[in-house]
Amino acid sequence: MTYKYESQRVAFPYFVAALGLFAAQILFGIVIGIQYLAPDFLFPAIPFNIARMIHINLLVVWIIFGFMGSAYYLLPEEVEGEIYSVKLAWLHFWMFLVGGATAIVGYLFRWHDGREFLEQPFIIKVAIVIVVLMFIFNMVMTMIKGRRRTSITIVLLIGFLGLALFYLFAFFKPDNMVMDKYFWWWVVHMWVEGVWELIMAAILSFLLIKLTGVDREVAEKWLYIIIGLTFLTGIIGTGHHYYWIGTPEFWQIWGAWFSAIEVLPFVAMIAFSLRMVSLRSRKHPNGAALHWTIGTAIVSFLGAGVLGFMHTLPQINYYTHGTQMTASHGHLAFFGAYAMIVMAMASYAVPNLRRKTGEIMSQKAEIFAFWTMVISMVCIALSLTGAGVVQSYLQRVLATSYMETQSHMGIFYGMRLFFGATFTLGFIVYLYDFFLLKRATSR
Ligand code: HEM
Ligand code: HEM
Ligand SMILES: [Fe+2]
Repeated sequence: MTYKYESQRVAFPYFVAALGLFAAQILFGIVIGIQYLAPDFLFPAIPFNIARMIHINLLVVWIIFGFMGSAYYLLPEEVEGEIYSVKLAWLHFWMFLVGGATAIVGYLFRWHDGREFLEQPFIIKVAIVIVVLMFIFNMVMTMIKGRRRTSITIVLLIGFLGLALFYLFAFFKPDNMVMDKYFWWWVVHMWVEGVWELIMAAILSFLLIKLTGVDREVAEKWLYIIIGLTFLTGIIGTGHHYYWIGTPEFWQIWGAWFSAIEVLPFVAMIAFSLRMVSLRSRKHPNGAALHWTIGTAIVSFLGAGVLGFMHTLPQINYYTHGTQMTASHGHLAFFGAYAMIVMAMASYAVPNLRRKTGEIMSQKAEIFAFWTMVISMVCIALSLTGAGVVQSYLQRVLATSYMETQSHMGIFYGMRLFFGATFTLGFIVYLYDFFLLKRATSR
């Protein structure tokens, strides 16, 4: 198997950039993981708040690189035509990389502005908007020029349009703190529990069709169910962030009911994946890609569906709000849904871009990396769930002071760091496989 359209090759640098930034994200994750246990580590050069900012900003940037690379790989095959402009794709690749790197280096020199996840200085925010618009223009033109219009490309486009649209609320910073928080969630929640889910579902459908050989009609039916459920639950589900921030009380009812059923699109993605695999007529040689593809459906359900549901009802969130429970859920959900869908696409696309697929040698290494990373991240989430339970009980139920509570949680932070190290090991094997084995076996 190989790539069918010359322009698909522009996806490759996107995956390389994504993995490079992912490596940096993990490095900073380890730094803040150490700082939890040894607060003076790297102080004052890289204080916790700055390293944390870099950790989560790199996360968002690399995932968006991964989304764009995935789109550039799948678009030509879906629309049956070349990408409208490969030059434009390269141009906004470099703009995004330079803009992203400037922001990260800027943080180290205390050049930042605004709220969690949206710390990018104003001009960097403007640059991000321009980059995304350039990408969307290229995507739309490719779709217009192409011979075929598929549900996958349309859902993907709606996802990217939503990503751009909701990011605009990053520019809106009301003085009133309630309003400020209210609209902050229009970026963060509407992204991860709304429009990004559409991007994920579209990529998942593409991969399942390719890896199982099952008819497009079956996948499309599921895709519609998933996006229907996402819109139905995710929009009003924003209410689960409006329980205690000064917003009207009715949000406790609306937020509870709608966010409780936010689990459904994730259940549907598991059912979809298993159904497609059960219908398959042949075994695809790229077993590693199938691991990531089924894996993303299952782990996103655990992280978003199970751990999300666990603290989404106001009766529970009253105690767990802003504790390590939140961090536990944040890690497994982001990793399971968005890191893993990008890894799945990279795993499928890269061997094709290198003109080879399914080499036995690289399959073994990659499947080892898959299990090491998934099990480590599940253990990170479990360690933090432990921390969250202790914290909620001591701090929120018994009203123990914050610092006193923290002094009982060291064991869990140690466990997080340990599994962070094993996660890193798995990731190094993945990179070794990606850059050495896949290259060594090509041509
Ligand atoms: C892939 C999808 C998801 C991702 C990536 C994700 C990620 C996150 C992150 C990073 C936060 C922390 C935000 C902050 O800094 O305060 C958060 C908070 C939260 N999430 Fe999710 N989430 C997802 C899906 C869900 C779902 C489906 C539910 C409910 C069933 C849910 C329930 C919650 C709740 C209740 C909070 C607030 C926790 C608190 O009060 O401190 N999430 N999520
Ligand atoms: C591999 C080792 C990792 C370690 C040791 C680590 C550690 C940390 C720490 C200490 C924080 C700050 C928590 C706080 O403010 O209390 C954090 C935040 C966060 N990390 Fe990681 N991390 C790692 C990997 C990852 C990965 C792979 C992802 C996602 C794919 C991720 C996503 C996040 C998110 C979304 C937050 C913000 C959570 C929130 O606001 O609740 N991290 N991480
Ligand atoms: Fe949410």
